[in-house]
Amino acid sequence: MARYLITSALPYINGMKHLANLVGSLLPADIYARFLRAEGEEVLFICATDDHGTPAEIAAQEQGLDVREYCRVQHERQYEVYRCFGLSFDHFGRTSSPQNRELTQYFYRKLDEHGLIEERQVEQIYSARDRRFLPDRYVIGTCPVCGYEGARGDQCEKCTTLLDPASLIHPRSALSGSADLQLRPTKHLFFKLEPLAGKLRQWVESHPEWPLLTRSIALKWLDEGVRARGITRDLTWGVPVPRAGFEDKVFYVWFDAPIGYIAATKEWSDLQPGERDWRSWWYDASDVQYVQFLAKDNVPFHTIFFPATILGTGEPWTLASYIKAFNWLTYYGGKFSTSQRRGVFMDQALEHFPADVWRYYLIAQAPESDDADFTWEHFAATVNKDLANTFGNFVHRTLVLTAKHFGHRIPAGGAPGPAERQLQDECRRVLTAYRTYLGALEFRKAAAALRELWTLGNVYLDRQAPWSLVKEDPNAAALVLRTAVNLIRLDALASEPILPFTAHALCDALRLAPEERTIGRGGYPGLADQLDLLEAGRPFDIPGPLFQRVDETTVAELRER
Ligand code: MF3
Ligand code: ZN
Repeated sequence: MARYLITSALPYINGMKHLANLVGSLLPADIYARFLRAEGEEVLFICATDDHGTPAEIAAQEQGLDVREYCRVQHERQYEVYRCFGLSFDHFGRTSSPQNRELTQYFYRKLDEHGLIEERQVEQIYSARDRRFLPDRYVIGTCPVCGYEGARGDQCEKCTTLLDPASLIHPRSALSGSADLQLRPTKHLFFKLEPLAGKLRQWVESHPEWPLLTRSIALKWLDEGVRARGITRDLTWGVPVPRAGFEDKVFYVWFDAPIGYIAATKEWSDLQPGERDWRSWWYDASDVQYVQFLAKDNVPFHTIFFPATILGTGEPWTLASYIKAFNWLTYYGGKFSTSQRRGVFMDQALEHFPADVWRYYLIAQAPESDDADFTWEHFAATVNKDLANTFGNFVHRTLVLTAKHFGHRIPAGGAPGPAERQLQDECRRVLTAYRTYLGALEFRKAAAALRELWTLGNVYLDRQAPWSLVKEDPNAAALVLRTAVNLIRLDALASEPILPFTAHALCDALRLAPEERTIGRGGYPGLADQLDLLEAGRPFDIPGPLFQRVDETTVAELRER
């Protein structure tokens, strides 16, 4: 039996994340983890904050906080919001942990032992006013290609040309604005990737099943030829470099961040060392299926840079089995942006709508084969149609009608007939598709299958019309409503990976015992055999409306904001 290790790209510590971050890695990873757990698989779902790097250091400075304290506060804030969104991490760690320092230094030493680390003299921009070397992106100037005046030293945001900070016209510091810059010699460590290019290509090519997005970006990098990458920086915040002459430097954030997946697993393990064994997941773990979730800008780091770190050790550390990459979710056609506060941020999102509404909307729109666009109009239309009118309406009218004619108990009625058998066949077909799509990490299609399952309930009720049947043949009406209440249970359990809070509320309303809240041995398709599981006479409660409709005034207000 396989075990599943699941990671979401580690969110940067600085600032609240937005909905594009959520849908591009955190949410699909959570849905996949919940799906596998429900099917009885052994799952370990790991995430952490990506604490290091210049942006964190500078944000801390701006707030007058020690960077450690800043990270502690931000970590708590992020973790709290992720909990509210129902993200079911087995552990949410941090890359600034002692575990990550130790492992990062270990990987570095192994690479060095294998001759993959090289010291190089480089010229780097030093700002006298800031009294520090400036990372490329903190040098600003005029783009030599298009003339844009706010170009960053690593890339011009206007024309997207990749730049060298020394090529900028009128360069100045992004920190202080000072133009008193000079090129100073310094030395850095480089990780030689060329010797690993063959192994990397072999590994990528051995995975034809990966999404096209993942493969095409990886192969493009390999085709262009991988070169040595600098893995040290002149900063104080980061993992110290254990090498003489490098006392004032730390590792580049992208060197220690992916190692953070392993280190966060070790954090988890260290909390209960007798019972948990991080190494069994990460070292010589041939039974582990490791699935990574990330946005497309992260693909080079996960298909080239991190696997090179692993392959370079010559040791059997776990490599990804599957890498699910996402395109961008845009906001009215433009980018979501943390620095420009453009788009919807996760904390604000929850002030307006409950987590499940966001989870469903976002995953139904997941930018899988292409970018997807967020608009409040489309959001409102989807919530109203799928959640309020389809799922919510089915649950509400079933329970209200049952209560009206038979009291707050499941009515008896006769044995299932042709209509119930037809419903069962349709449920089995849709649930089979749903499981297949989730298993294949095709999230939009999975959401569409779930919506189809909800629709089956309404179609069944409309066809059988228990509200009129009850006058001529109460026994027949009772059968319909007993079946419909059971279908609510099926809907709840099937919806759980995507709408966990709603699922839980429905299970409570039906007063289900713990064993009745699991899908059973047959997996999702097996639920179709449980349409007569809840017997007559069982009490239930009627929950409040599951989903609020979003009206036009609200849309206008939200858009304005
Ligand atoms: N913090 C990075 C980002 O948000 C992702 C880091 S993923 C890891 O783009 F591999 F480094 F962990
Ligand atoms: Zn330009």
